Amino acid sequence: MIKSKQLKDYEFEIDYFNGNCVVGYLKYEVTFDVVNIVDVFVDENFRRQGIATELFVFLFESVNPDRFMLEVNVNNFKAIKLYEKFGFVTIHVRKKYYKDGDALIMELKNNKDVYILAIESSCDETSVSIVKNGVVDVSTTVNSQIDVHKKYGGVVPEVASRMHLENITFVLDETLSKANMRLEDMDAFACTYAPGLLGSLLVGLETTKTLSLIYNKPFIKVNHMMGHIYANNIGSNMNYPLLALIVSGGHTDLIYMEDETTIKYIGQTLDDAVGECFDKVARIVDLPYPGGPNVEKLALNGNPTYLMPNLLSDGSTNFSFSGIKSHVVNLAHNEKQRGNEINKEDLCRSFQDAVTKSLVDKTLLALNKTGAKNLVMAGGVASNSFIRESIRKMCEENNINFSVPDKKYCTDNATMISAAAYVLYKNNKFAGLDTNAKSHELLTL
Ligand code: KG4
Ligand code: ZN
Repeated sequence: MIKSKQLKDYEFEIDYFNGNCVVGYLKYEVTFDVVNIVDVFVDENFRRQGIATELFVFLFESVNPDRFMLEVNVNNFKAIKLYEKFGFVTIHVRKKYYKDGDALIMELKNNKDVYILAIESSCDETSVSIVKNGVVDVSTTVNSQIDVHKKYGGVVPEVASRMHLENITFVLDETLSKANMRLEDMDAFACTYAPGLLGSLLVGLETTKTLSLIYNKPFIKVNHMMGHIYANNIGSNMNYPLLALIVSGGHTDLIYMEDETTIKYIGQTLDDAVGECFDKVARIVDLPYPGGPNVEKLALNGNPTYLMPNLLSDGSTNFSFSGIKSHVVNLAHNEKQRGNEINKEDLCRSFQDAVTKSLVDKTLLALNKTGAKNLVMAGGVASNSFIRESIRKMCEENNINFSVPDKKYCTDNATMISAAAYVLYKNNKFAGLDTNAKSHELLTL
């Protein structure tokens, strides 16, 4: 017979009885979401009868924490074998902990569903999302400040941070109520801490750290660009090794990932980011902020009649867009001076074609260089249909498995931040409450 009893507020014992006698027991402590197994004992005369296994099975049926932890002498081979049978893995070695050897710290992660609430506030979107197990979007709210910043032709940092502050609690409440969940139900809290506008980042960061402190749940810091990549995990997991093409307002990067935590830069823009150029071209042809989607719309009705410069065809896997940007500025200026009307549709189409060609060529070069058979695309510019389809076509022609997120997950959102946070959660990469915001940072996990 097996029975459980409570020893203290947080301490429990499972006893194995032979008649009225306890011949084996398992003691454990519950600390928040972790169950620490502090002692396992079976009487010498009752060993090799599967009693320890029964005690563990009883434990697994009694509690449902995030993880189980235990400590074992490295020389206790039988016990280690049993723990490994249950799926425990060694995560740390405490040197010379016992008189006769080291102690292994072993961990077993529970397979329960993990809900992470994430906040994104690095630029002009206040977004909160709850994602289950890093792949299921349970609830997401994106509050865009575009209408306010439009008046100024771009994001005004001071206005953005003030608006994040005004909106954050409403966006948080809306996300929770759509999910029909409470803050207590979350397993961790995550947010973007870099790169981005400092004042804006701080609103999300301080809110998240406060939630983590109040609800005693881990805090996870996420690099915004990593979030963009992990938007590709929403719905179904990415395949590795992969090449990631990131195209956003501030970045144009080619990243090689051997597995989910190994990052290697293959190429970067040497000057402007592709999104930034779309926004500049939009301004030249008097389109409102944000320019990218409006340039795409005009390009739909245009022909590539304007000659564009070759974009860094130097055989490298880096990009350069400042040349084409200056070219478009000069072209518009010269035409105006000559009193000629510029054909906006044609100009947008010519620009979009040239930029797309560069993205396609360099990505193919990087695929060949790395040998990666999987390509993921990410970032705000990845919502451009012409670019998406051109990259997809190149992948089909070269037998590359291609993934690009749903358009709503390409531009800034908290769903992607939560998806990236899940990878960090699985790898025990938690952050301290002294974490600060950073305006610039290379891609990190
Ligand atoms: O990823 P994102 O939302 O923010 C950053 O992390 O930068 O990207 C925003 C950028 C802007 O430059 C915007 O003009 C561009 O993505 N963008 C587009 C399109 N939608 C957004 N560029 C071209 N075509 C689009 N459809
Ligand atoms: Zn972004």
